Amino acid sequence: QSFVVAVVGATGAVGREMLRTLEQRNFPVSRLVALASKRSAGQVLPYGKSEIVVTELGPQSFEGVHFALFSAGASVAREYGPIAAKAGAIVIDNSSAWRMDPEVPLVVPEVNMAAAQHRPKGIIANPNCSTIQMVVALKPLHDAKRIKHIVVSTYQATSGKGHAAVEDLLAQARAVLDGKPVEATVFPGQMAFNVMSDWKPGDADYSEEEWKMVHETRKIMGDDSIGVSPTTVRVPVVNGHSESVHVQFHEPITAEEAKRLLRNADGVVLADEPYTPGKHPTPAAASGTDPVYVGRIRDDVAVKGALNLWVVADNLRKGAALNAVQIAERLIKKA
Ligand code: A2P
Repeated sequence: QSFVVAVVGATGAVGREMLRTLEQRNFPVSRLVALASKRSAGQVLPYGKSEIVVTELGPQSFEGVHFALFSAGASVAREYGPIAAKAGAIVIDNSSAWRMDPEVPLVVPEVNMAAAQHRPKGIIANPNCSTIQMVVALKPLHDAKRIKHIVVSTYQATSGKGHAAVEDLLAQARAVLDGKPVEATVFPGQMAFNVMSDWKPGDADYSEEEWKMVHETRKIMGDDSIGVSPTTVRVPVVNGHSESVHVQFHEPITAEEAKRLLRNADGVVLADEPYTPGKHPTPAAASGTDPVYVGRIRDDVAVKGALNLWVVADNLRKGAALNAVQIAERLIKKA
């Protein structure tokens, strides 16, 4: 059996990765529909060895579509998600529009695939990229010792802010090296050779990105008692998010036990060689690959029975496109 798949936002950073992921994983596609705004209609995108012509998103775009993978921002998802679902498609949306809707499952296949079976709105939400890689790493530990409190700091790549953000970073880097003035279009200031706390404000002096990590972690893990103390930071990396994660549990755990639990965990590659400079997971090495890399697992030196970990993944793949495609793959297997 094969399926009609629509990619909404096909010209964007995540949309292009969705096309690549579908092709690389041999997703059974009978027809592919690449959708974007009017600006991009007629544009030709690579799809495996062939090409696909972009068409303009409209209310009629979802005729006969089985899976609609959205990555075109929250307002497009809010407007067109229900239209696609009404036309009979299973919508998997990468934006924040539907994530916290109680009638929309928020799914990471390695963690809570069962939730995807109940979708009264016909929509499944793909979580925020930073949250996805963290919960993939923490789920086996949560199952064993129940997480009480997470303190996480992120080192997020610019690709998470879209195609234009990467262009902005590279142009800024060139300007700095040439001794020219730095211009910011996507970023609120200099991103090249700099580090910036995430700038979109949320409540109580936390950023919106930080609140996503709090709420989404609880929803995916199905445990509202988990405390999450986040600091989200953008770094001048093109692609690949890194996270420093401190975790406290209801029952004590050791680094050795954690390594044992993570060695064969679904979606995880354990990097457990002794600490060697340059050998722990890096975003440059993770970029273009599927797993969540967990390294530097250490017993906390101050809090007994707690752990510190370093978690790295490709934010466009596992953090977005791959997670969405994996949801579709597992739904097909169940059907
Ligand atoms: P377009 O390239 O035509 O603007 P990114 O996250 O890299 O910025 O990409 C956003 C994606 O969402 C792009 O594919 C973009 O298409 C698409 N998009 C943005 N706004 C709309 C819209 N109003 N209708 C359809 N697609 C949209």
